[in-house]
Amino acid sequence: PLTASEKAFILNLWPKIAPRVNDLGGDALDRLFLSFPQTKTYFSHFDLSHGSADVKAHGGKVLSALGKAASHLNDLDGALSSLSDLHAYNLRVDPGNFALLSHTIQVVLAINFPNDFSAEAHAAWDKFLSEVAEILTSKYR
Ligand code: HEM
Repeated sequence: PLTASEKAFILNLWPKIAPRVNDLGGDALDRLFLSFPQTKTYFSHFDLSHGSADVKAHGGKVLSALGKAASHLNDLDGALSSLSDLHAYNLRVDPGNFALLSHTIQVVLAINFPNDFSAEAHAAWDKFLSEVAEILTSKYR
């Protein structure tokens, strides 16, 4: 579980992310699809061109889900339960892909919020995203 100071790093940055979820989430997905093209296979029904409306809208959904998680840091399992069902039972995303997305989200945070994304903040976000990924992949078997 996250420590109190790790939670503070998530909660301090979230209000700066919240008004920009489509742009920031879209950038994280653009980087995912460019650097790790195998991840595109799950999105064959999307327009995956750089900055497309599909990519921004989906990026917004992903970051908004992280925002919901950030507001339930003491009950991540409950907050992410239905998304966990979706990714495990319907989408069957290979669990290895979560680390790739976690990485590109952190690159986007580091670029956009250089003053906030200290080494300690980075470590806290990495732990938060890995806890989210752990929950989203927990029902695979
Ligand atoms: C759908 C969140 C990781 C593939 C979604 C949705 C959300 C979400 C909120 C929309 C659910 C809905 O419409 O009700 C997240 C979060 C992730 C994550 C928070 C980790 C931080 C991944 C990864 C992949 C993936 C790693 C694959 C590379 C998909 C796909 C859909 C989806 C294919 C359905 C898209 C559509 O057809 O609209 N995810 N996701 N997700 N996710 Fe994830």
